[in-house]
Amino acid sequence: MSPKFFSASKSFFFYLIILGIFLWPSCRPKEAKIPEARYPIIPQPTQLTPQEGEFTLSSTTALKYSSAESNVEPVINFWRERFTPPTGFVFPLNNDQETNVIQFGLTASFPGPEGSYKLVIEPKHILIQAGSARGLFYGVQTLRQLLPPAIESRDKVEVEDSFWKIPCAIIEDSPRFKYRGLHLDVGRHFFPVQFIKKYIDLIAYLKLNYFHWHLTEDQGWRLEIKRYPLLTKTGAFRKQTLVGHARQKLPVYDGIPYGGYYSQEDVHEIVAYARQRFVTIIPEIEMPGHSLAALAAYPHLGCTKGPYQVAQTWGVFEDVYCAGQEETFEFLVNVLSEVIELFPSEYIHIGGDEVPKKRWQECPRCQQRINEEGLKDEAELQSYFIRRIEKFLHQKGRRLIGWDEILEGGLAPEAIVMSWRGTEGGIEAARQKHYVIMTPYSHCYFDYYQADPRTQPLAIGGFLPLKKVYSFEPIPAELTSEEAQYILGAQGNVWTEYLLNEKYVEYMAFPRACALAEVTWTPKEKKDWWGFLSRLSGFLRHLEALDVNYFRGNVDELITQDFD
Ligand code: ACM
Ligand code: ZN
Repeated sequence: MSPKFFSASKSFFFYLIILGIFLWPSCRPKEAKIPEARYPIIPQPTQLTPQEGEFTLSSTTALKYSSAESNVEPVINFWRERFTPPTGFVFPLNNDQETNVIQFGLTASFPGPEGSYKLVIEPKHILIQAGSARGLFYGVQTLRQLLPPAIESRDKVEVEDSFWKIPCAIIEDSPRFKYRGLHLDVGRHFFPVQFIKKYIDLIAYLKLNYFHWHLTEDQGWRLEIKRYPLLTKTGAFRKQTLVGHARQKLPVYDGIPYGGYYSQEDVHEIVAYARQRFVTIIPEIEMPGHSLAALAAYPHLGCTKGPYQVAQTWGVFEDVYCAGQEETFEFLVNVLSEVIELFPSEYIHIGGDEVPKKRWQECPRCQQRINEEGLKDEAELQSYFIRRIEKFLHQKGRRLIGWDEILEGGLAPEAIVMSWRGTEGGIEAARQKHYVIMTPYSHCYFDYYQADPRTQPLAIGGFLPLKKVYSFEPIPAELTSEEAQYILGAQGNVWTEYLLNEKYVEYMAFPRACALAEVTWTPKEKKDWWGFLSRLSGFLRHLEALDVNYFRGNVDELITQDFD
């Protein structure tokens, strides 16, 4: 490049920048004129009216609430657990104090769906109102985001008296969707209890309300079942693990045994932790496929009777539970009975995805079942399998969720469909008046690359940048408004074949989970990519303070990347 051209182009760019500075505000949507960096709230509230001034937390800030209202207790506990360590303030209950108070008000007549709340932040007084403790909790999450990021510290932060400021505002907020989920696969890689708690805390922070815990896989069974100890003794461990990508022609293994599982004690602890944060844990027990670890423990459950090994590589395996024998259903009903005891969730996920039919085609018992039940083929045998399990769950007052393959051969009467291979399964299910959770891999698979693969650690493939997650609309245009009622919401999925450790899970899940939170919470017409980015830059400082290893992509790249 000649010096002359360089200087000409330099002044040209200078001109563009100056022009840009003048034109910039007019190019941006009206809401962006609100000084949003002052309110780095994710997901964006339904209604936010900025006000002058700030409320300042201090050693004399009191909480005001009706102690007769036991529902408020978990929210108060959360407040003190979270905010006392960094500030050193004790936040006493004092219903007589008029100023410098945070007032919690539960009002049965409060309008809006569960989780709705109103915040009035004034210089001397904060009022959080809601119709449920969940709403109060979400009001507290909003305040947490409005405080300086140092509020996330677990140790006392040495700062001047006026440090803990919350900008004044009036916020009226309620969720767009009932179901706002994040998933984690602990089968391919195992993550300790402490990390699961951290993940749940982040889910709650983003006002997501479901944690889909994918507990069983070909590569590991991770949940203690008292009646079947081999599930964890044998099924929770594999001899070694594939190194590199499963697409490689010559597989290489690390030669290192790998495994782990959650005891029922661990599960009690995690479920209680989630409940305090208004997060429901949906356990997933995979069937009839993705079941090699269970078969390795109890080979009589398979069509060929084994022997089987806990899988050491990634993919879809032909060995699945035999659908032709009663022992399989006895086993699954017994397992699910313990699962139901452990997890209060109304929804129980039973997988149902990626079931090769080869073994069933070759198995005399499975073929006999097809004949006896008058089934057309193996797809209908799968449907028979899921229907039986659904009947059991239904008797227990629970509802079955399955991946969209459960549509094949006919849906079980009250099954809920998790649409992952696209939105088509969800559309079909909604038309059949079944509830649907949208999680198409095109927009919701956080195991996909989020930037140029050449700059990223090994991942499964695909390309799902932040902007594409943000662009997701859970209600397909094809649905009528009546059919659209069946879309419960959406979920981000974090499969862990290539996510070897906690840091990598955080890297893939955040900030994409932040975009998903806004997709599921914020009214469609209030979504605003630029506003989201400016709020995100504030929220990321909170994630930083929480030691979350989020993807620190170049924002220019995030903004300009094409994804279609
Ligand atoms: C899936 O990704 N196999 C549900
Ligand atoms: Zn069989």
